[in-house]
Amino acid sequence: MSYKACLFDLDGVLVDTAIYHFKAWRMLGENFGYQLTEEQNEQLKGVSRVESLNRILAWASFSATEEQKEIWLKEKNDNYLSLISGMNPTEILPGVVDFLSQIKADGYKIGLGSASKNAEIILEKTELMPWFDLIIDGNKVSKSKPDPEVFLKGAEGLGLLPHECIVFEDAQAGVEAAKSGGMKVIGIGEASVLKEADKVISNFVGINSADLLLF
Ligand code: G6P
Ligand code: MG
Repeated sequence: MSYKACLFDLDGVLVDTAIYHFKAWRMLGENFGYQLTEEQNEQLKGVSRVESLNRILAWASFSATEEQKEIWLKEKNDNYLSLISGMNPTEILPGVVDFLSQIKADGYKIGLGSASKNAEIILEKTELMPWFDLIIDGNKVSKSKPDPEVFLKGAEGLGLLPHECIVFEDAQAGVEAAKSGGMKVIGIGEASVLKEADKVISNFVGINSADLLLF
């Protein structure tokens, strides 16, 4: 199968922001006396901000009004924004820039498919923005992963069919989203976690544009 585009998730694929989300949720949890665990944080990967808050409140057995939730969503994001304020290109994950430069040179389109509403800020800070032909982020979708909307909009925006795109994802919800959108998906992480992925790699180190023909 020859592909025409690569669609990348952001958090955990291109940059490692999970630690900042974790810290920001932990800070927020102090409002209702709850300490999120690292295992729980794993389950929030790829999950939208509002859905993440709902899950945390359920784990904490804490019920909040819609008004209170709005306040906490803003507070969490303010915490997160201050934590990522110093982000720079050194936080791009290993092998990413080399892989992007190879696929660009070989004529593949490059798209972003992220649940994050902060995607553009992060792409700017890390100087990854110029690589992208199209950005679909949390501001452009109404349904959160595992719904395929973010990747289907990516394919459509690039003028391609789903099977012409290959997705790179680190989250279970994202792998599920790509599969149900009819796309090939390469998991970034561990095969035992990303069971539905077509192939799993630990990172982009040593991965070449030519490998796209073999996936
Ligand atoms: C990514 C992360 C999630 C995060 C979501 C929304 O998918 O993996 O942990 O909750 O984006 O991010 P945002 O920046 O909009 O709060
Ligand atoms: Mg991710």
